[in-house]
Amino acid sequence: MFKRFKITVVGSGATGATTAHLLALKELGDVVLVDVVEGIPQGKALDMWESGPIERFSVKLIGTNQYDETAGSDVIVITAGMPRKPGMSRDDLLKTNADIVYQVAEKSSRLSPEAVIIVLSNPADVMAYVAQKASKFPHHRVMGQAGVLDSARFRTFLAAALNISAKDVTAFVMGGHGDAMVPLVRYSSAGGIPVEALLSKEVLDGIVARTRTGGGEVLALMKASAYYAPGSSLAEMVKAVLFDERRILPTISYLNGEYGEQDLYVGVPAIVGGNGVEKVLEVDLTAEEREAFRNSIKSVRDPLSLLAY
Ligand code: 2OP
Repeated sequence: MFKRFKITVVGSGATGATTAHLLALKELGDVVLVDVVEGIPQGKALDMWESGPIERFSVKLIGTNQYDETAGSDVIVITAGMPRKPGMSRDDLLKTNADIVYQVAEKSSRLSPEAVIIVLSNPADVMAYVAQKASKFPHHRVMGQAGVLDSARFRTFLAAALNISAKDVTAFVMGGHGDAMVPLVRYSSAGGIPVEALLSKEVLDGIVARTRTGGGEVLALMKASAYYAPGSSLAEMVKAVLFDERRILPTISYLNGEYGEQDLYVGVPAIVGGNGVEKVLEVDLTAEEREAFRNSIKSVRDPLSLLAY
């Protein structure tokens, strides 16, 4: 007897709710929306479910303040925690969100021992590490979402500069999800044509800079963290796992020697499928790119060293 996939989304704030609705609209599976605030996940899930006849989806959504109904989930998406406020860095959320993510990962993983966990809560690279410690899942079944989002911003800005469809731009970002992230121009192309052949260094440098602060740009405008593109990014990763798509996606993955790094979660290109991170891909980096990657890794190891996990 076939059964629908089941996806738990923990955190029913803007990103969690946007993700839950996108998962339903794409009919990826039944969605359980969890939050500690009474009535909010229940009301949002009910409201989304009621859009089903119009949006033509058959999956179900429920909201809850408990974890019982999350049992047997195939994917657990963690968005719980405080989002950034204007003037804050993602690292300012460290201790508060580490405690929240640890609790959430521990409770949800116990009821879904075969699930893949995808963490968005910031600082995302560190929170993925925390979620793995809490769940005790194999490292490949815990990953973080940041690179799909950062790469989407990178691709959007490249497409705008070229005045072409973003669908034809491929590009990715490596490193920590912070201002030291590494958009890799050398590996970016438009319709297969390297962007360095299409745009000047000055324009490309400007796009790299805007990509690095893409989250802050939205935050400054609406005085709240982004949630549409983050939600789409999470849905993309959930689909890659549920349908064993073996997508190459920039993913916060556990490094156990890759790129010369041990015991660290950070954004790298990876094959994402039914087992979560199927394989970390080690791409060649120039000396300059490697230096930037190392610098970005430092921005992850520094906050991580402040936690006692
Ligand atoms: C962002 O970059 C929320 O960290 C996320 O918008």
